[in-house]
Amino acid sequence: EKAGYKHFMAKEIAEQPVVLGDALAHYLPEDRINLPETLDFTDLDRLTLVACGTAFYACSVAKYWFEQIAGLPCEIDVASEFRYREPPLPAKSFAVFVSQSGETADTLAALRYCRERVERTVAVVNVATSSIARESDVALPILAGVEVGVASTKAFTCQLLVLAVMALKAGVDRGRLTPDALAAHVEALRHLPGLMNAALSLAPQIGKLAEQLSQAQDILFLGRGSMYPLALEGALKLKEISYIHAEGYAAGELKHGPIALIDRTVPVIVLAPHDRLFDKTVSNMQEVMARHGKVLLISDARGIASASEGSWATLKLPEVPEPFAPILYALPAQLLAYHTAIAKGTDVDQPRNLAKSVTVE
Ligand code: M6R
Repeated sequence: EKAGYKHFMAKEIAEQPVVLGDALAHYLPEDRINLPETLDFTDLDRLTLVACGTAFYACSVAKYWFEQIAGLPCEIDVASEFRYREPPLPAKSFAVFVSQSGETADTLAALRYCRERVERTVAVVNVATSSIARESDVALPILAGVEVGVASTKAFTCQLLVLAVMALKAGVDRGRLTPDALAAHVEALRHLPGLMNAALSLAPQIGKLAEQLSQAQDILFLGRGSMYPLALEGALKLKEISYIHAEGYAAGELKHGPIALIDRTVPVIVLAPHDRLFDKTVSNMQEVMARHGKVLLISDARGIASASEGSWATLKLPEVPEPFAPILYALPAQLLAYHTAIAKGTDVDQPRNLAKSVTVE
């Protein structure tokens, strides 16, 4: 069942190039965006994205895409807050519910709240027969295949892919994407499975870093732009399975509080592709190093060449077109969590206190 891997999580991390390829073949066949006609974003005033845990972080990344690619105002919320806040919703809006299991109680309740209030409810789910899929107007399968590990991995990257394709359709519908720009984005997404293979080959290097990370009491993750939600996801993954306290922060927030935590015992993992925000993130990273924080810089060749001085370690990923970097950078974050947990000897597939599907509040 584990196909020769020690844990389901390892198998599911390794499967990502293949399952992402399957999702790409389904949603971007030839030169077409394969989404239902009823998902017409033309006249929308707002998109609302609701989910829990890792699925919420997928929504948080997608917010950057819907805003930047499609100029579509986008609200995100965790389902447990959204459902009791009972927010007003513009009638000309879609509400999107992202859930691997499709059975998360809070997400289902949020969907039920939205049903009569928005134009269309959309489920982005792995389990196509689930409650959330059945009760939504439109259900989009993420095609990740069965995910067994409690820590969500391949479902996250496949959720991101489906949300990215939705953002492209929104960009076309709203006249924000020229045919050439669309073609460039599609091309970039199609390259991802190959780039993911390169990221997976970092596993031995990550295994060595994990020996040291497993000694830490606290670990920080920093990112800017769409790398900020990925910092949150990296921290969630690590705390879930290694039980090390980890926090993700927007790099620019560092000086508003968390920098007080930095000393030589605190590893700081910086997720920073060489994009338009790179220099800003580097200056935050330098503030960490000035206080003897142990920086692990995850970047591409250009980023590492220009900013690795003074860091504890680096991990080099291939270059990836700017908006979609989170889909690739998720892999080293998952591998860091996995190998750190292995070094600590925790139960990776069945971490304490957690269930795969949270069907009660
Ligand atoms: O099945 P769902 O996607 O609705 O589950 C949501 C969260 O419970 C889930 O992502 C959780 O945070 C994972 N254990 C994260 O790895």
